[in-house]
Amino acid sequence: MAEKISTMISSQEVADRIAGLAAEISEAYRGKVLHLICVLKGGAFFMTELSKHLLIPCTLDFMAVSSYGDGTTSSRNVKIIKDLDEPIEGRDVLVVEDIIDSGHTLSCLLKELGGRGPKSLKLCTLLDKPERREVKVHVDFTGFKIPDAFVVGYGLDYQQKYRNLPFIGVVEI
Ligand code: IMP
Ligand code: MG
Repeated sequence: MAEKISTMISSQEVADRIAGLAAEISEAYRGKVLHLICVLKGGAFFMTELSKHLLIPCTLDFMAVSSYGDGTTSSRNVKIIKDLDEPIEGRDVLVVEDIIDSGHTLSCLLKELGGRGPKSLKLCTLLDKPERREVKVHVDFTGFKIPDAFVVGYGLDYQQKYRNLPFIGVVEI
């Protein structure tokens, strides 16, 4: 059965904000080569769109971690399922994530990546749910701060569905 989904952020608003974020990031890394790390699967839609608007040279890599089951509750176990193809030592690294919720995933991931000797390590997220934070995570670039609701679209899923929606929607369960 299909869930009812209502629009929280329209596809035009998402597109406009991503272009704005890309401008901010291009300015912050002017004269540098940026290494983007996408956290799969959710970050893929956001990272590809963001990278298309960057005005600086960039390279890309992908990583997959597990933090959620198939439901809507957070698990604290973060495991690397797919590691990066290339070392990040000495590089200017920007981790691109779909959403920061409790903060556990990114807190663990940033610790792990920080140990690999990048020249710099920053975090960019399309969505942030600050009310849900359980561990502190410093976010350098944020698309939208949103209230505590379970959202889908633009890479975010509910039971692996709805990642392909071009807008951010709220699932009415
Ligand atoms: P955290 O470890 O609690 O910050 O959770 C991070 C991960 O949980 C995200 O990368 C998403 O994959 C997933 N997640 C958190 N909130 C949502 C949501 O509202 N919709 C879909 N996935 C979510
Ligand atoms: Mg994610």
